[in-house]
This record gives sequence, structure tokens and C-alpha cells, in this order.
Amino acid sequence: MIDIHHHCLPGVDDGPREWDEAVEMCRMSAAEGIDTIIATPHVLRALWPTPERATLESKIAELRRVTGNKPRLLLGSEYFFAHDIAEVLQSGKSIVPLANSRYVLVELAANSVPPMIEQPFYRIQLDGWIPIIAHPERNLILQAHPELVSEWIDHGARMQITAGSLLGEFGPAAQRVSHAWVRQGLIHFVATDAHNMTKRTPKIAQAMETLRGLVGDEVAEALAVRNPLAVVENRGLEFEPEPVQPASAGLLTRLRGLFSRKGTAI
Ligand SMILES: [Fe+2]
Repeated sequence: MIDIHHHCLPGVDDGPREWDEAVEMCRMSAAEGIDTIIATPHVLRALWPTPERATLESKIAELRRVTGNKPRLLLGSEYFFAHDIAEVLQSGKSIVPLANSRYVLVELAANSVPPMIEQPFYRIQLDGWIPIIAHPERNLILQAHPELVSEWIDHGARMQITAGSLLGEFGPAAQRVSHAWVRQGLIHFVATDAHNMTKRTPKIAQAMETLRGLVGDEVAEALAVRNPLAVVENRGLEFEPEPVQPASAGLLTRLRGLFSRKGTAI
């Protein structure tokens, strides 16, 4: 498998602080069946200073050295959405595209959706970029309004769910919509979004069992292997499901989601 979302670089964000833990994360990933990791440190998120590209390059080079590059380590980033994304991408600073491809991993706040997000997404696509939305299933607004996810896909965005969501690790609402959305053809990738060796480990094998049970072996493999490989090789996705237009959730479901949420996850 290829993990396109993984915070394995030490000392740059809320991922591991020490090298030992970073190395353990790589080892555990390999044991889970991951042969390639795209390291995706947070960039332009107000909580941490954005690391210099040279710093990231030297950290990933060191991690390759101490792990023997098993799994293979590639560099990317997780960009916290702001409306000037097109300008930031144009500047060539801060955002590191996934594995030097035209795909960029973009996260939203956990409890809101920026207004008029379609316009900047449209602009960056004119410049050749493809936005991949990180863990939409963990966003409170999108849980209640899956029709937005479908619209954004129509507008060219692609969707990545967190493996742990399929197992209920981010609460029942994230679990429910992740199951529904993979069945409805709204999801293009599954990734670990691993942060450490305690609560946010690079586990994926068990989630893949769940995924196979939901959508079958072929789609599960597309989400964990074939589409991520297309990103690494900088080409169009192999698996482009036709999304089923989901209805906005009813008030009761929205309230249930609100009260079952397990705090703000990043
Ligand atoms: Fe992340």
C-alpha cells in the first residue's frame, strides 16, 4: 500500500518529537503492509511555524538513512486551506505537492467549511493542480452536508478518508459517513494520517478488512494502492467512481453528529 498522508517527520508539527518514534512509525507502517509513505507535515497552519523546504528535505533524507528507506519515503505536505491557495502555490514556497506531483493535500478546519471554496479550487486547477481534501468525513459540516462533497468532486477535487474513521476511531458520525461515502463513490483514497506511536498510529490493515467488506477487494485496492500510485507517478487516477448524489442529512442526524463528536481532530 501507499500512504499519501502521514506525519512521520520528527519535530516539525504535531507528529513525533523524537527520531526513535519516527523510526518506529516507519517500522509499524511496513508491518501493516505499507511500502511507500508520503510524509505530509502540516504547513501554514497557525499552530506551528511552517518548516523550510530545506529542513523537510534534510529530515526526510535522515529518516531514509536510519530506516534504510523501508518503506520508501517521499515528501509532501498537508496545507491548511486559505483562500489565497492559488498564490501560495504559485510562489512555490510552503506547500510541498505530494511526491512532487500536481496533487496537493488540503485540510479544512474540523467544524467549518470555508465559504466559496469552489473558486480557489477552480483557480488552482487552471494552474494544473489537483486538490485532495484530507479526511472530509471528520468535518462536522460535511457530515451533515455530503452533497457538498459530491459538488466539490464535480468541480475537480478528490477525497481522502482516514483509515481509523472506518473503525470508529473518530466517533460514530465519521464512521457512519465514511462507510456511506465509500459505497456512494465519493472517496478516492484511504490513508493513515498517522501522528505518533500512541493514539494516532499508522494502522491500516484492519481498516482495509472493513473496506473490503464494504466495497470489495477491487475498490479497496484502488483506494489504498492504485490511486495513490497514480499520485506518486503524477498521472490521472485509475479509479474515478461515479458519485451517487447524496442527500443532505436530516436534522436528527445532524444533531446526533453534533453530540457524538469526539472533540476536534486534526
Ligand atoms: Fe494530517
